Formats: sequence, C-alpha cells, structure tokens
Amino acid sequence: MEKKHTQTAIMDSELSEQIKAVTKEVHVRAENTELMLSYQRGRVSLQQYQLLLCSLYKIYEALEEALDTNASHHAVAPIYFPQELARLESIGKDLEYFYGQSWREKITVPAATLRYAQRLREVGRDHPEYLLAHAYTRYLGDLSGGQVLGRITQKSLGLKSGEGLSFFSFPGVSSPNLFKQLYRSRMNSVELTEEQRSGVLQEALDAFQLNIQVFNELQESLSCVSDTENEVRQRHTQHKQNTTT
Ligand code: HEM
Repeated sequence: MEKKHTQTAIMDSELSEQIKAVTKEVHVRAENTELMLSYQRGRVSLQQYQLLLCSLYKIYEALEEALDTNASHHAVAPIYFPQELARLESIGKDLEYFYGQSWREKITVPAATLRYAQRLREVGRDHPEYLLAHAYTRYLGDLSGGQVLGRITQKSLGLKSGEGLSFFSFPGVSSPNLFKQLYRSRMNSVELTEEQRSGVLQEALDAFQLNIQVFNELQESLSCVSDTENEVRQRHTQHKQNTTT
C-alpha cells in the first residue's frame, strides 16, 4: 500500500523529480561499484583514471553527436547547452596530456563502452526524447558528485591544478547548483505523452546501468592486469628460489 502511494506520488510530480526518485536506487548501485568506491576511499590509480577517460571519450562522442543532430527537437532544445556542458573537447585535452599527440591511436574501448555508445546512437536516431534521460544521467552527475571526483583525482595522482583534469571543469557554469536548478526547470518544460514519459524514465534506469557496466568492465580489466602481474612476480620468486637451492 505504502509503495503504491509512493509510486502514485512519483507519477504525479514533475519530470525532474520523477527521474531523481526513479533512479535513486540505481544511483546507490553506481556509487557502490568498485571504481566509485576507490574514489570514495580517496584512492584512484592513474590506470583507472586513464581508462575511464578513454571510455568517457567514446560515450560523450556519441552523446554529443546525438544532441547536436537533434538540437532543434522539442524534447532536446530546452536542455541543449553545448557551451556550458560539452565535454568531448575537454576529454580530448586530458587524453592528449596522458597519451601524447597520437592519443587517438592509443585509446582502448572496451565492449561495455561500445554498447553504451551504440545505444546513444540508436536513441539519437529512433527516440530523440530519450536523450533527456542520457544527458541528465551524465551531465547532472558530472555537476554533482563529479566535482568531488575531480578533487580526489587531482589529489590521488598528484596532478598540478588543471593538468589532465579538464573533464571535471565547467568554465561556462559559475554555480553548479544554480545551473542544475535551471536544467531541472528546462526538463520540466518539455511536453511528453505518458508513454514517452515512462520511456524516458526507463531509459534513465538503463543509462545508469550502462554506466555501471562500463565501470565494472574497466575494473575487471585492471584486476586481470594485476593478476597477470602477480603471476609473473610469483613465477619470478619461484625461479629465484629454485636457482638458489
Ligand atoms: C547527484 C554523489 C556517482 C549521477 C549526486 C549528488 C551527490 C552525488 C552528492 C547530489 C544530490 C543532490 O543534489 O540532491 C555521487 C557520488 C558518486 C556518484 C559520491 C560516486 C562516487 C554517480 C554516477 C552517476 C551519477 C556514476 C551516473 C553515471 C548523478 C545524477 C545526479 C547525481 C544524475 C543528479 C540527481 C538529481 O538532482 O536529479 N550524486 N554520485 N552519480 N548523481 Fe551522483
């Protein structure tokens, strides 16, 4: 009964409140991925950050291309803020900082990242109104917890202010909180049918899930590396023991 009341209350409210309520639980799951836990413990490795940047590049490439193509769509125009929010160029700068000028040839794109980018392209082509869900998930996340993640990255990696950290910086947004308020009111101004609205809410859940899969795959690939490193180390120690006995 209690749950039914809550659900009715959610469906009666505005899109920005609905989307926040519906994604509350999956947000907690995203926060509890190994990668995000490393952040919350204040420890992130260079490899983690570099791989994250590679994936984010592919994600924002697809997201921002879809937003640009649909800039005048009635559900996209109110939340289209390329000057303030676009991340692709910033991530490119960070990748160049870490990998040098030929960074494009060096970046790795894991399967979960490709799936996320592919979904963004499908949405841009077949359901532009679902871009509301994707833009919300990434950009409002970047303007919220993302700001703390930037400071942790800088501290953990001992980076000088700004170096390799452009992704976290939004020079066109002077107050993230005020900007988030504006963004929410723009989301609420979009007219959607009930069917479109529930499609957007479902897509937001999927968008969080796609992020979780990207984080998990990134972390797994790193534990494979460290497993291999450990095996090599073990073999080396064993070899040394064999030769000394
Ligand atoms: C909002 C923390 C990861 C998406 C927030 C807020 C905090 C936060 C404190 C502000 C809540 C408010 O203003 O009421 C964190 C922490 C994370 C994390 C500590 C991990 C270490 C993520 C991830 C995503 C995400 C991985 C999605 C990919 C969002 C979104 C909002 C948000 C969309 C806006 C909610 C709204 O106001 O509607 N987060 N977050 N967060 N976060 Fe996260």
